[in-house]
Amino acid sequence: MSNKSILNKIKIEFEEGLDKSEKNLEKLEKLKIAFLGRKSQLGQLLKTIKDLSPEEKKEFGILANKTKKEMENNINLSINRLKQQVDLEKEWIDVTAPGEKTEIGHLNLLSKTQREIERIFTSMSFEIADGPEIENEHYNFDALNIPKNHPARDLWDTFWFKDKSEKNEKLLLRTHTSNAQVRYMEKNKPPFQIIVPGKAYRYEATDANHEHSFCQFEALVVGETVNVANFKSIAQEFFTAFFQEEIKIRLRPSYFPFTEPGFEFDISCRVCQGKGCSTCSHTGWLEMGGCGMVNQRVFQAAGYEKNKYQGFAWGFGIERLAMMKYKVDDIRHFRSGDLRFVKQF
Ligand code: DAH
Repeated sequence: MSNKSILNKIKIEFEEGLDKSEKNLEKLEKLKIAFLGRKSQLGQLLKTIKDLSPEEKKEFGILANKTKKEMENNINLSINRLKQQVDLEKEWIDVTAPGEKTEIGHLNLLSKTQREIERIFTSMSFEIADGPEIENEHYNFDALNIPKNHPARDLWDTFWFKDKSEKNEKLLLRTHTSNAQVRYMEKNKPPFQIIVPGKAYRYEATDANHEHSFCQFEALVVGETVNVANFKSIAQEFFTAFFQEEIKIRLRPSYFPFTEPGFEFDISCRVCQGKGCSTCSHTGWLEMGGCGMVNQRVFQAAGYEKNKYQGFAWGFGIERLAMMKYKVDDIRHFRSGDLRFVKQF
């Protein structure tokens, strides 16, 4: 048999083999070795080329190498096609299968309430201010007319730091957002109206209505002619917007060193609309927090001239507002981290 015939025979057998192995990767790999490997018939045939006469060498050499290239191309094509198919099969997805729901987080009830408060006040042209949670004795107490060793300090059970500040001041966790009052007034001249939402801390036992860490928001409105009537109307507007129902408010005389006069602030009971029920201990009113006209001594601590300005201020618990609006019965739920609580809102 001539070399050409042998080559032709190899090619035909190879193509037959290729047809039969088309769908089987393992068979294709074997076929490749059998027909194109060093020990294959083609491999042996190529080795004999060097012994041929120059003319034959040229003609057959070109033909043999061309045939080998074609065979290689064909089988590689089949192998690659099959590999791709296998990969696609692995990646197959059932687009009709029901999707798995990814859990999406949401705002905690406290943040939600705080934002709601901020939204209402900014719509009434209030600015939102800030104050530090780690505070010195001066802004938390002294500047608010609560001197050292004064019994009024006992109203605020305090977490003190062991270390003092660089300026040798005693440091504490602020017991109320009122610490921002003098800080803000030192940097700003009236008229202004701000709220200061934020965290406050008290060293006290916890129960359904008391937490050692809680949120408050302070309001401070200062100008030359600000009076209690302005305060009542702003408060009424805020509470009506917040609870989305008509709310009545009432002030009872009270004492805070930084107010003169000072009041305790109540809103009409939302459960019984003031008629009296167990929620409001049959008084028709719910306690909200403290408020009052700013004591002139506080203005003086901020560097304002005495009796030039008047202002009112209040400090309310944000948890308390959220508890009333969303009917939460225990303040400790807010920081419990209990998802059964968190997910309800
Ligand atoms: N800081 C007071 C507290 O946490 C609440 C308070 C009372 C704030 C009267 C005020 C105010 O601004 O005028 O107990």
